[in-house]
Amino acid sequence: MPLTILTVVGARPQFIKAAPVSHAIAALGDHREILVHTGQHFDASMSDVFFEELAIPKPAHNLEVNSLGHGAMTGRMLEKLEAVMLAEKPDLVLIYGDTNSTVAGALAAAKLHIPVAHVEAGLRSFNRRMPEEINRVMADHVSALLFCPTETAVTNLAREGLTKGVHQVGDVMYDVALHAVRQAEGRRSILDELGIAPKSYAVATIHRAENTDDPERFDRVAAWLSKAGEETPIVMPVHPRTRKLMEARGIVPANIRMIAPLGYLDMALLTHHAAGVFTDSGGLQKEAYFHRVPCVTLRDETEWVETIEAGWNRLWTEEAYKPRRDIPDYGTGEASGLIAKLLREAA
Ligand code: UD1
Repeated sequence: MPLTILTVVGARPQFIKAAPVSHAIAALGDHREILVHTGQHFDASMSDVFFEELAIPKPAHNLEVNSLGHGAMTGRMLEKLEAVMLAEKPDLVLIYGDTNSTVAGALAAAKLHIPVAHVEAGLRSFNRRMPEEINRVMADHVSALLFCPTETAVTNLAREGLTKGVHQVGDVMYDVALHAVRQAEGRRSILDELGIAPKSYAVATIHRAENTDDPERFDRVAAWLSKAGEETPIVMPVHPRTRKLMEARGIVPANIRMIAPLGYLDMALLTHHAAGVFTDSGGLQKEAYFHRVPCVTLRDETEWVETIEAGWNRLWTEEAYKPRRDIPDYGTGEASGLIAKLLREAA
């Protein structure tokens, strides 16, 4: 039976994750996908560029909910998503990751008794002070299909009593990363544009509330980066949240070249040729590994524990990397095809 799938996206990493799955659903032929953009990330550099570069279909609905506190943002999304779901009557709602858009999509659908499928289920930092952790736990517990990227994620769900509808599928971000560098190499190079040579720089990104909301903590992060930059100059595409904060506090860190947020292909190329990655982003920790670039995570814990175990990542609180090896969990670049197949079987 052909399915009508309503996909909820809203923030930058969700556009990246939804792209390969959306293409895989289209390739099945007989199913219809309705894309809903909550509006959480809205400017060209945080949203439009991803739709263009990753050939994601134009959203059927844009709810334009953004720049609000957590309660107001999630609440308005919930209200608007419910109206869209009542009008579109999907058979299934597809959600990604751990943002306010994820939890709003999950709750709206669950209350209308529409089955929810969660891509990137089972990740845990075990830090309930992170908004993302609350969003993940809530989303997983109302989902009927839980697509886990790793074995650790499957184990985390089992510990919470979630075993039904759980599938370990690999990482959809790996599917995208595999194609990105080839696609990016043919274009005007971001390295030429910035006048930098391969392996002569490190890439940094900071945007998590845990780092940006506490001024004392943010100062420590900025100081750590400036120090690391003495050894390897840093290029930092700056998230709007972080830029606002730096401007408000008049912070101009030494040894860091701040640039505007990049599109997916430029970011992939910049990461691919970097000597190192310093970040608090979950996605970039894995992308560093996909491009075989060592990473330091500026957080006190990570959901992507395999990257640490395999010696490609370390927390900034740790002195040294573990011995290096490959990470089979992330799959072979076919996670999105597998998800589409499992969605069809669920019909
Ligand atoms: C959100 C997610 C986080 C995810 C991240 C990826 C939540 C709780 N957090 O954090 O899990 O890792 O996205 O980037 O959902 N802004 C702009 N232009 C934009 C987008 C945002 O100016 O295009 C501004 C917003 O107005 C806001 C700030 O940046 O003031 C932060 O945006 P917000 O949507 O709250 O979340 P992120 O920090 O991006």
